[in-house]
Amino acid sequence: MPSHPRPFATHRADLDALAADNRRRALIPRAGVDFASNDYLGLAGSDVLREALAAGIARGLPAGSGGSRLLRGNHEEHEAVETHAARHYGHEAALFFSTGFAANAALFATLPQRGDLIVYDRLIHASAHDGMKLGRAERAAAAHNDPQSFDDTIAAWRTAGGTGTPWIAVESLYSMDGDRAPLADLAAVADRHDAILVVDEAHATGVYGTAGAGLAHGLARRDNLITLHTCGKALGAEGALLCGPQIARDFIVNRGRPFIFSTAPSPLMAWLVRQALEIVATQPERQAHLQSLVRYAETRLAALGLPASGTQILPVVIGDNARTMRIAGALQDAGFDVRGIRPPTVAQGTARLRIAITLNVGERDIDAMADTLAAAMAAA
Ligand SMILES: Cc1ncc(COP(=O)(O)O)c(C=O)c1O
Repeated sequence: MPSHPRPFATHRADLDALAADNRRRALIPRAGVDFASNDYLGLAGSDVLREALAAGIARGLPAGSGGSRLLRGNHEEHEAVETHAARHYGHEAALFFSTGFAANAALFATLPQRGDLIVYDRLIHASAHDGMKLGRAERAAAAHNDPQSFDDTIAAWRTAGGTGTPWIAVESLYSMDGDRAPLADLAAVADRHDAILVVDEAHATGVYGTAGAGLAHGLARRDNLITLHTCGKALGAEGALLCGPQIARDFIVNRGRPFIFSTAPSPLMAWLVRQALEIVATQPERQAHLQSLVRYAETRLAALGLPASGTQILPVVIGDNARTMRIAGALQDAGFDVRGIRPPTVAQGTARLRIAITLNVGERDIDAMADTLAAAMAAA
């Protein structure tokens, strides 16, 4: 009898190898002062958003959509949030998804065609990678935040006979580094090469731009721009709004498998997202308050000799996986929810603490966290 591996033997070995490298993940209960969430404007648990949800229920909106948008699932609230978002973000059209991951999967799997080239920033999100893998276009990595690298990659592809459309895929604010993309320069590269620029605004939506419309808002109203606005971070809800030309929306509705073969988001969530967009737009003091807290945190971290990213995401790169998790553990034990981020989420040798500043904390929390961080780094 040939011997076969016992069920899940390879899975067990894989997890054991992760544990040996201090990279095994586990779900832990939410605890401590929030320096870990993407709830940048403190909306997720706010009364204002909970009341908006209650108002949606009182209006009789259904909890579930009951089907795909192309079947019975399409609800007027989906179309209402899309019309609202298109106007808000300065695009011709928008399409609402249950998550940003699904939106990126649909976008990158569907819009770039065989014979096209997607040039993506090396640090782009996993969901963009997975979408690209599902699609038919060629793909190439460009150096992080380096417009020249995008330009050179497209030029080399053209010289080698590439005849399709180039796509440039970036984030406007990188989730693990907190740095911003040079969007105007990237748009110029896109124009020079008749390329389409795709900007994932997950961490900028609500936090930057007029009425929280994001960092790419200044580039809006171009026919070669697509932006993605996730709704589970600063907007405090969930879902994602893909914004761009009408033709892109129509194409995904016809050809986008993650859109077509999936139950439509809850109409209540579509309603809630529309209210969240309105709250962010009419309460600019939330954005201003967050920026002042970020400046405060930067000063405190600078006193520890730590560099600032200039945004609400403040990475503290430690390097070693085990040391990173020891420092994160010490902060958690002291009541601060600071998480360690290890490879493969970030590059080998760059394990870090990802400190996120949100309106769920105040200056005194930042003081206390910074003091604990200094002690934990000295001890670890
Ligand atoms: C840059 C980026 N894009 C897309 C996503 C996915 O969005 P969602 O959490 O709504 O699936 C995330 C976050 O998880 C993200 O950080």
